[in-house]
Amino acid sequence: MALNMSISQSHKGNRTMTKKIVVGLTVSVMAAGFITIAIAATPSPMFKSESVKIPVPGAYFEGTDATVLNQNCAYCHSAGFVNRQPALPAATWTIEVSKMKVAFGAPYSKAEIPKIVAALVARQQTAH
Ligand code: HEC
Repeated sequence: MALNMSISQSHKGNRTMTKKIVVGLTVSVMAAGFITIAIAATPSPMFKSESVKIPVPGAYFEGTDATVLNQNCAYCHSAGFVNRQPALPAATWTIEVSKMKVAFGAPYSKAEIPKIVAALVARQQTAH
């Protein structure tokens, strides 16, 4: 007797669960239907490739030895960081360029530092 009761209870429990699942599925199917309709009603946007030139004043080096500095400095920050500095001796630029490598991870090699410093010093002698 006791065994029978527990079996029928578990049956009941299963049926309730099945019902819940069916109701849940119906609601999800309905919701999905609404979403589909909403998407279909929205006119599809037209995508086409556009090329836009954004003016970034002072982003890149211009003039004397610009190429070497654009290659080594301009991908982290604008040329303005450098152009705003006062005229500095080569020794100070060497420390600064080494700092960019050691502290901030600039990928140029140590061997390239004198070439970069020479470019920085050369720029100070000309208007840029
Ligand atoms: C890996 C990224 C990176 C590269 C490459 C890089 N810098 Fe910097 N630089 C920084 C960061 C970050 C700062 C800003 C530090 C701050 O906000 O105080 C900075 C700041 C500066 C400053 C301002 C003064 C200072 O020390 O904060 C100067 C001058 C400078 N950089 C020069 C250069 C030159 C010259 C080069 C190329 C040889 C260069 N940087 C390449 C990351 C870089």
